Amino acid sequence: MLSGLKAPAPDKILALTQMFREDPRDAKIDLGVGVYRTPEGVTPVMRAVKAAEKRIWDEQTTKSYTGLAGDPAYARGLAGMILGEGIDPGRTAAIATPGGTGAVRQAFELVKAHGRADATVWVSDPTWPNHITILRHMEMPTRTYRYFDDATCKVDVEGMLADLAEVAEGDIVLLHGCCHNPTGANLTAADWTRVADLLAERGATPMIDIAYQGFGDGLDADAAGTRLLAERLPEVLIAASCSKNFGIYRERAGLLLTVSDASEAGTVQLVLNALNRANYSFPPDHGPRIVATILGDADLRADWQAELEETRLSMLALRRQLADELRQRTNSSRYDFIADHRGMFSRLGASPDEVAKMREDFGIYMVGDSRLNIAGLNADTVPVLARAIAQTCA
Ligand code: LMR
Repeated sequence: MLSGLKAPAPDKILALTQMFREDPRDAKIDLGVGVYRTPEGVTPVMRAVKAAEKRIWDEQTTKSYTGLAGDPAYARGLAGMILGEGIDPGRTAAIATPGGTGAVRQAFELVKAHGRADATVWVSDPTWPNHITILRHMEMPTRTYRYFDDATCKVDVEGMLADLAEVAEGDIVLLHGCCHNPTGANLTAADWTRVADLLAERGATPMIDIAYQGFGDGLDADAAGTRLLAERLPEVLIAASCSKNFGIYRERAGLLLTVSDASEAGTVQLVLNALNRANYSFPPDHGPRIVATILGDADLRADWQAELEETRLSMLALRRQLADELRQRTNSSRYDFIADHRGMFSRLGASPDEVAKMREDFGIYMVGDSRLNIAGLNADTVPVLARAIAQTCA
């Protein structure tokens, strides 16, 4: 069976990380994979995470299995953080998953097993490449909707709504809750309302991937679109990640959260539990326990929020610095959008050849579609990047 297998195409984000590692130049700059780094290039363990881990180490008396859904305190805490006060917890069901990717996968599993037989999943063009990889792997019908306007580097909201007008009842529309990956361009509050109206009219179910809550405009602001949809629509699927906002990437803490009619939520919970059982049984616990410990303790929570806010503001400052440098170097407002985008990423609008040239000539690594990770920069490397862009991009 194993002879003659065809090697799969490498994931373009992870392949770039490998390429960066193999580059012997000292002055190279990694703007690839979405991992936060301090100006010193470190991905820190957050203070509250360290404190929570110490508390868990001191107080934990068993490592026996949790329930199939994971620790209920984790689901409760994270659901509260995402949905706020406006949604009756009786309408929700949730399972812990191995990372946000696990939540995305389990959401698709739910659709495949229990959705309309030919339900189509609509994804933004572009979207996180792994969305497509998973959908292809699961052989699920997929269509794209216009999202990014290459000319303005903003959301093409009219194009998006025109494409979504073709959505059929029972289809799934995958939206990025905030900090769109890979473009950095996001819906406004008014846009979210129009999307909610359209989905309600078409009878489609939104699936919201929220992997960067707290990295855009703040914890509550970043969840505003998700909250609106949960308030306005009968059913919502939410795939959440704690990798970035708690900085616990390798612990794999994700959550699949559903909002439905309260009378159905108990059955939905049993279905979700069964999906965990069938795919990997019990979800990882250490990461979720860290999150539950932090969210359940006022002091730890305040400290975590303060550090998350520092992280968010540092990325915003880098955005402004880069936009300013580019304004000066190109004598134009062409790159002002970088300061308007939110989250870790911006799509620059450079061609694949220009991206390759910046890698070869300047040791600057960004994904081939010209997505750059703002958090890979610091005040000293911003001018280096700005010079590379100004000299390379047509
Ligand atoms: C990214 O988009 O860089 C992150 O979500 C990491 C990943 O797994 O691709």
